[in-house]
Amino acid sequence: AERSREQVIAESIREIPDFPKPGIQFYDITTTLLDPAAFKACVDLLVERYQGKNIDAVAGFEARGLIFGAPLALALGCAFVPLRKPKKLPGETIGEEYELEYGSDRIEMHVGAVKEKQRVLLVDDLIATGGTMAAGARLMDRVGAEVVEAAVVIELPDLKGREKLPSNCPLFVMVQKA
Ligand code: PRP
Repeated sequence: AERSREQVIAESIREIPDFPKPGIQFYDITTTLLDPAAFKACVDLLVERYQGKNIDAVAGFEARGLIFGAPLALALGCAFVPLRKPKKLPGETIGEEYELEYGSDRIEMHVGAVKEKQRVLLVDDLIATGGTMAAGARLMDRVGAEVVEAAVVIELPDLKGREKLPSNCPLFVMVQKA
């Protein structure tokens, strides 16, 4: 029988125990990128879901959200906006902090990259605690943009990241992993 796109994607993800530290299972999408059918399945799922939805911009999170977001933006014929870790973007930036287990982190985008009233998709490889995605949603809210949806390849539902997202930010997931 033919495998579904979701199955092809799920089977392409490599699981590496104890990375980056003991007790953490790392879901590695570099093996998805090595398999053109699996990488294409990810992008096709997104393109079919969002084409014709008047998307103005795809915003992808450093690092792996950039890889999935850029081909989606090209296929939709819309802008691509990188959301970067601090001090990476050369122009004037607007940023949002989010809490980590120890300390905090921050994502930034260029001022003017997303304009008021624009319809934006947030894209990342994975949602864990949801801190990153929630910060992206707040950032779009601050510039007056509308988040149409947040899309990820992998959700770790046990970490309940979904619950951290604002109610006006639906979540689309390709594969769930425990
Ligand atoms: C990972 C992942 C997401 C984020 C999800 O990135 O690619 O961006 O964590 O975690 P959260 O839902 O708990 O916020 P990471 O922080 O490892 O950064 P990197 O992609 O730059 O390596």
